[in-house]
Amino acid sequence: MTQRLANKIALVTAAGQGIGRAICEAFAAEGARVIATDLDAGKLAGLPCVRREQLDVRSTAAVEALAQEVMKAFGPPDILVNCAGFVHHGTVLDCSEQDWDFSFDLNVKSMHRTLRAFLPGMVERQRGSIVNISSAVSSIRAVPNRYVYGATKAAIIGLTKAVAADFIRHGIRANAICPGTIETPSLEGRVEGLAKATGKPIEKVRQDFINRQPIGRLGTAAEVAALALFLASDEASYITGQTHLVDGGMAL
Ligand SMILES: NC(=O)c1ccc[n+]([C@@H]2O[C@H](COP(=O)([O-])OP(=O)(O)OC[C@H]3O[C@@H](n4cnc5c(N)ncnc54)[C@H](O)[C@@H]3O)[C@@H](O)[C@H]2O)c1
Repeated sequence: MTQRLANKIALVTAAGQGIGRAICEAFAAEGARVIATDLDAGKLAGLPCVRREQLDVRSTAAVEALAQEVMKAFGPPDILVNCAGFVHHGTVLDCSEQDWDFSFDLNVKSMHRTLRAFLPGMVERQRGSIVNISSAVSSIRAVPNRYVYGATKAAIIGLTKAVAADFIRHGIRANAICPGTIETPSLEGRVEGLAKATGKPIEKVRQDFINRQPIGRLGTAAEVAALALFLASDEASYITGQTHLVDGGMAL
């Protein structure tokens, strides 16, 4: 504990499990006052935070209402982490218009919503760090069956750079984190689902995911959180508009 985020207010979306949860824990351990939000408020139990809020990032009205509450109670957040995301499995031929719209709404437009709601306060105060969770599977590289997922995660990189460029003279930094394959509840779900769909043993499917990682293992949510902590903190005060891989060599 070195209090790297002492006195900072941090708002995190999709904080209930996996990477979002690990980010909340890492931030709180370094002194941040965390506002943890998730679609499923029940998953926020036990998190060390100043506020737990049910938040569906697909709802503009809900995001705007929360922003007003947060502004009243805490003022603008110093840190905004946009973590919500969904993995659609399949190629272009498996992706209906509805699938496309859902993925872009949850993975990308959600960030447009939170940025429009929280950025004005940050700009007024002339400081803020935005951390958007993208993926190594994006404009960086492709893997099979991640057609619309990869497209959304590439869009996040463009969105992040645009915000960084537009607000660099207002004390705002925006960075994208691009994880490789990370051990989280949703990954476990994907392993089980794929095993069922293909008839392959779970262990074989799991090994296929591990084999995507040149380092020879899956990453942990804590390893992604360590990078988020650095980018959110003042240690990264000269870093903005970049993609930061934490990927076990997946992009090699
Ligand atoms: N796990 C990986 O291997 C991996 C790799 C690269 C990038 N990512 C990205 O990291 C982020 C987190 O992934 P994860 O695997 O840690 O999490 P997860 O999928 O295990 O958990 C996602 C959380 O998001 C919440 N959520 C779902 N819909 C929501 C909505 N509409 N509004 C608010 N919250 C909602 C869920 O309740 C859940 O708590 C995602 O953007 C994902 O694409 C994950």
